[in-house]
Amino acid sequence: MSQWIPIAAADECPPGTAIERLADGRMVAIANVGGTYHAIDGLCPHQGGPLGTGSLCGTVLTCPWHGWQFDVATGRHLVSATVRQAVYEVREEDGRLFVRPSPHGHAAGRTE
Ligand code: FES
Repeated sequence: MSQWIPIAAADECPPGTAIERLADGRMVAIANVGGTYHAIDGLCPHQGGPLGTGSLCGTVLTCPWHGWQFDVATGRHLVSATVRQAVYEVREEDGRLFVRPSPHGHAAGRTE
């Protein structure tokens, strides 16, 4: 997945919320942190929980299954430095959100 892929309407993910969507066969968790969008791998590395349906507090997304927490800006697990989700670039255009893998694999959330 190297091209921008349409993934959702922007109004499906208002500030302070997260959603999950498929992009090119991969589950992606999209989070809106105060108007800035972030996207990370949506499959929790613990037992495959749906991160995009978890709760968002600031940049911290909590898995709904057992509570693992990730920073959506970096993909990093809050406790274990060795656990890190892939991060996707996100852009908004004409009310739609598009994602693609970050070339550097780190924070890439932004609004446009
Ligand atoms: S599956 Fe996410 S914390 Fe267990």
